[in-house]
Amino acid sequence: KPEKPTNNTTKQSSWVSPDWLTSLAQSLSIGKDDSNIPIANAKLEDVSELLGGALFLPLFKWMQEYGPIYRLAAGPRNFVVVSDPAIAKHVLRNYGKYAKGLVAEVSEFLFGSGFAIAEGQLWTVRRRAVVPSLHKTYLSVIVDRVFCKCAERLVEKLKTNALNGSAVNMEENFSQLTLDVIGLALFNYNFDSLTTDSPVIDAVYTALKEAEARSTDLLPYWKINALCKIIPRQIKAEKAVTLIRKTVEELINKCKEIVESEGERIDEEEYVNETDPSILRFLLASREEVSSIQLRDDLLSMLVAGHETTGSVLTWTAYLLSKDPSSLSKAQEEVDRVLQGRSPTYEDIKNLKFLTRCINESLRLYPHPPVLLRRAQVADVLPGNYKVNPGQDIMISVYNIHHSPQVWDRAEVFVPERFDLDGPMPNETNTDFRFIPFSGGPRKCIGDQFALLEAIVALAIFVQHMDFELVPDQNISMTTGATIHTENGLYMKVSQRQTKSAFAASSSSSR
Ligand code: HEM
Repeated sequence: KPEKPTNNTTKQSSWVSPDWLTSLAQSLSIGKDDSNIPIANAKLEDVSELLGGALFLPLFKWMQEYGPIYRLAAGPRNFVVVSDPAIAKHVLRNYGKYAKGLVAEVSEFLFGSGFAIAEGQLWTVRRRAVVPSLHKTYLSVIVDRVFCKCAERLVEKLKTNALNGSAVNMEENFSQLTLDVIGLALFNYNFDSLTTDSPVIDAVYTALKEAEARSTDLLPYWKINALCKIIPRQIKAEKAVTLIRKTVEELINKCKEIVESEGERIDEEEYVNETDPSILRFLLASREEVSSIQLRDDLLSMLVAGHETTGSVLTWTAYLLSKDPSSLSKAQEEVDRVLQGRSPTYEDIKNLKFLTRCINESLRLYPHPPVLLRRAQVADVLPGNYKVNPGQDIMISVYNIHHSPQVWDRAEVFVPERFDLDGPMPNETNTDFRFIPFSGGPRKCIGDQFALLEAIVALAIFVQHMDFELVPDQNISMTTGATIHTENGLYMKVSQRQTKSAFAASSSSSR
């Protein structure tokens, strides 16, 4: 029986550790820095951008000035910023030496003891328990029953915009789509956010926004409990988290009752319950000894990690395709040829090769999150002989690695074909950490296949039924939190495609 898990993430705060002073001294360049790491001379206006806006943009600028590793001082915080695949590989693979650090601090109010931010034994045990639920049979069932159904609902909704000619915020719609998907896939719960407003949906967005805001707050006042009780933003966040937790707890209790009354147990390797294929049902039927609170926090980890990320991938892929009509028509021709007017099955997906490469390339140009955070647990020497002290916060800029001209040819250009159409799915291993949208090493995303399938299905159904173009003259500026998103939405004009004639044309040309 596994040791009783403990979560030690809260003990790692750099704000209270003695390393804070060393960190501050390094920030101010006081004392000798023998780390070999150049210190970036951040200007005040850049730091303010760091704290409120698109964090990864100044990080990119400084990479061009200071190279693939530099030290950045932002107020009392001090980060080593990494933009080099070999150093990223070292940090991400050596999980024992590097913990999640700041990420855990800013999102603990929501994740609790969930395994996305847990460390040590708790993380090992919970990740091992959850991973088997995402097996191949589950994914194939979910493609049909959840991914396709939700994407079809989105298309139905967009037909109204197509008819009345109104501009539609695709970022909002993709975010609603992926919330509906993750609710059904995780707990068989229909948020139905594409068509309704509800307090739970508002609560999910409020909590996500709070986690984002915390990641860029200069003063982490929310660590002081008394302040959280009087500051309106914190009161709102706490209320939101309470509602989300209550909703998930109710779902767990209901599902537990059913599993127990039916005496359900997992009796085959790739078990899926016919009436409720959700991950919650799988985990309960596996009859693992886990508290409802831990289960709730693990499911919330997946809800948060899997919602906005996939929504943002769809947003930026649609944006890139709207700017590149020849890639869009290539994707539409492929979808028409492979699907012949129907929705995709799990088996079809491997044939949507170009569409998949559009998503891979979108993940290269817009990685979510654009920066991965780690905190050194021990002294270490990084490849290139750069020394780091225990407690050092590290930012791995995935955005920089993916945009670096040292790493990629024509790094700034959208070229879906740069990934061999008939080659394997690009990942951290086969690109030697040049392409790391799902991170790498032991804490790599557990939902990578789920997310790719979801994005391919949603995009296939969207381009199959819709033509779309950007509303002209809108200001599409980027901002960050957990993902890269727009500041004001992504507005498009959509029109219904004449799919029948498109199929006829493409099938006659491919004959
Ligand atoms: C972790 C990206 C979708 C569940 C991660 C990490 C990245 C990532 C980069 C690692 C963070 C780090 O190293 O600090 C993405 C992207 C997605 C996506 C780009 C969509 C395209 C999903 C989905 C799920 C999910 C759909 C759930 C079904 C998780 C979990 C973790 C994680 C639970 C934490 C794993 C751990 O710490 O052991 N994701 N993710 N993700 N992701 Fe995803």
